[in-house]
Amino acid sequence: MVNLIYSNSLMSAEGETATQKLKDVINTPYILAVEGAVATANSGYYNIIGSMDGKPLTALSAVEFLGSRALHVLAVGACAVHGGVSAAKPNPAGCVSVTSVLQRKVIQLPGCPCHPDWFTGTLAHLLLYGEPELDSRNRPVMFYSQTIHDRCERRSFFDKGIFAKKLGDEGCMFKLGCRGPVTPIDCPIRKWNGHINLPVGSSTPCIGCAQFGFPDKMESFISYDVIKSEE
Ligand code: SF4
Ligand code: F3S
Repeated sequence: MVNLIYSNSLMSAEGETATQKLKDVINTPYILAVEGAVATANSGYYNIIGSMDGKPLTALSAVEFLGSRALHVLAVGACAVHGGVSAAKPNPAGCVSVTSVLQRKVIQLPGCPCHPDWFTGTLAHLLLYGEPELDSRNRPVMFYSQTIHDRCERRSFFDKGIFAKKLGDEGCMFKLGCRGPVTPIDCPIRKWNGHINLPVGSSTPCIGCAQFGFPDKMESFISYDVIKSEE
């Protein structure tokens, strides 16, 4: 179903041959899916994606140009959605979200990384049925409606007040900094790496990679202070 015209990490074309593909698409109906934050400092020159007409093509100008003409725009992954790791302090490149540089609706698929199913599922819905139901932050409800905590395999430990004191312990990892209670996404039922596991299943707290503000607003991932003060 997908005719992938331009992806700088997947396509074989290089240089102006590759960016010509972007030019060719402009007068056709297309969907723009952006990975990565948009660097705005120094007129966007911290992020040059190629060259066009003999000049450097910045991500900033490419997103502005292609985003204003696309049928739909998808921000894929934490950096595109809210700046993510690229916009973490001190953010010298002035990285911002795709929404910050476009005056239009952008479907948001946060996650570090975005799960392939969240992306292809949203794309398939757009192609087959139109825009999926979105929440107040433009995330598809079919993926981003329930928190990790709601469906966590360790939830019964939380409800009984049984907390892990260190990684690998049995029990809920809330006191090890788990961000499952504030992260709405379907990792517990979808899982990763071919639907095999998720962080909690490997005795690792959820670090909130699919929540807005990751990583700065999700720090610190693990705090031992709570545990020390109880011992
Ligand atoms: Fe909630 Fe995290 Fe505890 Fe699971 S491990 S029950 S997501 S706090
Ligand atoms: Fe990310 Fe938490 Fe899922 S760290 S992969 S949102 S379990």
